[in-house]
Amino acid sequence: MEVIPSGGTHGAEIRGVDLSEPIDDVIFEAIMEAFHAHSVVVFRNQCLSEQDHVDFASRIGEIDNDVYGHFSHPDHNEIIILSNILDDDGNPIGVQEAGLFWHTDLAYTQTPSRASLLYSFEIPVADDGTVLGDTLFSNTAAAFDGLPDNIKSRIQGKTITNRHAYAYFKSGHGEQFKKSADALHDVIHPLVIKHPFTGRKILFCNEAMTVCINELTETESEQLLGFLVEHVKKPEFVYRHKWQVGDLLMWDNFPTQHSVDHNFKLPLRRRMQRITVRGSVPRSA
Ligand code: SIN
Repeated sequence: MEVIPSGGTHGAEIRGVDLSEPIDDVIFEAIMEAFHAHSVVVFRNQCLSEQDHVDFASRIGEIDNDVYGHFSHPDHNEIIILSNILDDDGNPIGVQEAGLFWHTDLAYTQTPSRASLLYSFEIPVADDGTVLGDTLFSNTAAAFDGLPDNIKSRIQGKTITNRHAYAYFKSGHGEQFKKSADALHDVIHPLVIKHPFTGRKILFCNEAMTVCINELTETESEQLLGFLVEHVKKPEFVYRHKWQVGDLLMWDNFPTQHSVDHNFKLPLRRRMQRITVRGSVPRSA
């Protein structure tokens, strides 16, 4: 197995591993070490059945329950389909606008996902050969370190309220999440959390879900949140993943946030399958 870092603050390719074959404990530990060191890792050219995908994710931990209720794989409830494709009746086959806003998977629940494993089947490609629909990842530990000292002390000890699909509803894109949003309650998390494995401090608010900073007035909260959600998007903190069919991309949700470049539309098709592995309750740093 070989680990090739992206050259930025995070992101790496892992070569020499076929995830459809049994993986011994030594290789598995090396994968997890690379995962914690680089936060986003890709295995290219994988040929995985649904069961291979489930088996590898289960090795990392307990798989999250399906929160959407209606976008899971017909034969594998633990796999969520993310796609812009419509079926013969014109209904979406999966979550249509996943990643329209920057977010951490399942940070609207008490236990945000520890890891997400996204496997690509179809990738949109423009007529000139440009690959579209990149996924962008911000390193939110580096983003915390890069904050001015006065902001670091302002956010220390504060808490946030997160709500499922908050920015989607606010911007008129929420209809697809109505069912899951009705079933879920707001959650409170620390604004600065400690990574459960590396101990690094992480900025934990996000554009998609964070409604407010609880200890501030509405105006103060809006201003500070506005600053923080833009701060994490700065190019120096961002790794851009250029997809290939057969990529299994795996990311650590605690020190990252992600969004999708929605620069494609039908007839250009994008189809992915995602499994998320349950994390722990975020602890204040
Ligand atoms: C997501 O998991 O939020 C979407 C990622 C992607 O579709 O690239």
